[in-house]
Amino acid sequence: MTTNNEKTSKENASKEIIIFDTTLRDGEQSPGASMTKEEKIRIARQLEKLGVHVIEAGFAAASPGDFDAIHTIASLITKSTVCSLARASENDVRRAGEAITPAMQHAEKNGRIHTFIATSKIHMENKLRMTEDQVVERAVQAVKWALEYTPDVEFSAEDAVRSDIDFLVRVFDAVIEAGAKTINVPDTVGYSIPASWGERMATLIKRVKNSDKVIWSTHCHNDLGMAVANSLAAVANGARQVECTINGLGERAGNASLEEVVMAIKTRSDIFNLTTRIDTTQIVPTSKLVSTITGYPVQPNKAIVGANAFAHESGIHQDGVLKHRETYEIMRAEDVGWNANKLTLGKLSGRNAFRTRLKELGIELESEDAINAAFSRFKDLADKKSEIFDEDLHALVSGEFVHEASENYKLVYLHVASQTGETPHAVITLSDNGQEKRAEADGGGPVDASFKAIESMVNSGAELQLYSVNNITSGTDAQGEVTVRLAKGGRIVNGQGADTDIVIASAKAYLNGLNKLYSKDEKMNPQV
Ligand code: KIV
Ligand code: ZN
Repeated sequence: MTTNNEKTSKENASKEIIIFDTTLRDGEQSPGASMTKEEKIRIARQLEKLGVHVIEAGFAAASPGDFDAIHTIASLITKSTVCSLARASENDVRRAGEAITPAMQHAEKNGRIHTFIATSKIHMENKLRMTEDQVVERAVQAVKWALEYTPDVEFSAEDAVRSDIDFLVRVFDAVIEAGAKTINVPDTVGYSIPASWGERMATLIKRVKNSDKVIWSTHCHNDLGMAVANSLAAVANGARQVECTINGLGERAGNASLEEVVMAIKTRSDIFNLTTRIDTTQIVPTSKLVSTITGYPVQPNKAIVGANAFAHESGIHQDGVLKHRETYEIMRAEDVGWNANKLTLGKLSGRNAFRTRLKELGIELESEDAINAAFSRFKDLADKKSEIFDEDLHALVSGEFVHEASENYKLVYLHVASQTGETPHAVITLSDNGQEKRAEADGGGPVDASFKAIESMVNSGAELQLYSVNNITSGTDAQGEVTVRLAKGGRIVNGQGADTDIVIASAKAYLNGLNKLYSKDEKMNPQV
């Protein structure tokens, strides 16, 4: 591996890259991806299984719901460090400190506070309205507040990409002196290109005092499609922590995608000569879980986790792969978990087997009634579909069950008529807070007719921004998973529904979206 930086030469630098996953924080800032506490817990458990070093579970000061989710995750997760984001303000840092307290009670004392303040001129003058001196003072103070709760304090210079390098050196010198252990250099706006990002990392490590006493970290956004390339350039120049998200979820065009960073480091170990502690066979199951819960489908040609990532279409390629796999494959599908999709249960499986599998998947249902209801839905599904996979179980509980408490609208009955030459027509009965309502409507297609029938009853006026259907597993008997993105009054939510009938899945997704739209759990964007 070539590195421009003497201080992080091969002798000094650790060979292990710390994977810091921010799916539950930066990923959650994607429009409509806001998650419930139960959903965050399921993802956190899977991230622990995946082997990430650090789980950024949220932003404690953003809402009581986020605080509660971080607090619970900090009590449940022991193999990964649990982290809360905090702006450099006393209230934020103290909320983060309180949220991670359960982690500090584990033997591993694995709680981290990640505090940040903007350091670019444009942010300091227009957003913070603070001088350079004030920013340095606040950054140092924030690190000191954080150290009252944990020795594991990370500091980020927001918009480092557009910050003056001399000022960055000054801020980093000061926060290291104050006790920060990880220094994160974010490309907040996705502006960099690999050569200059690598150079920036190398320069900082060279110029900052005591840079060998801290872990250097990179956090890249994907606005120019270079988040992964930039992260790897930083690694090649001394960064030993990469902040990333599953499926590259995140603000705007997203963050560096965890699966791409990890597999690049593994597949090109001849160049990087580094490792991660990720169990790569858990990558695809984690990707599917995050996609199901957030309602963000994975594009088929997405590297590593897209449905076509290992599909060879041309005859020449197929022939080559059959003769010798490495002719066209640089990674093995099974190494990233493509075959981990286990046939879990079938029609004859009993309640205990069902309950045990849910537990293994990290799905904790609250009461016996809840288990009974989910089991009865599982039996209905098993009647329609011979083989039930883990993904089916995730979809079975997602979007419906975990939101039960906040479900105003439920689908009771749906009938659609659709034939060539006729206008599609839908008849729907739904329960509105326990009261049944019925309506019918024509539409351009059966889904359109169903949505119109629902709207005629609920009059939400929500704007439908996205409608997408994906099959959860393969085969024509697979469940279709539908995502709808609804926007109203500045709020954006993703509703999901799954069923072997995609019109029913669509109606469920629409109602799930409406339920989320009307739920009280407001979230705040940490970067505002
Ligand atoms: O993109 C960014 O700058 C961030 C910071 C809070 C690290 O997400
Ligand atoms: Zn970010």
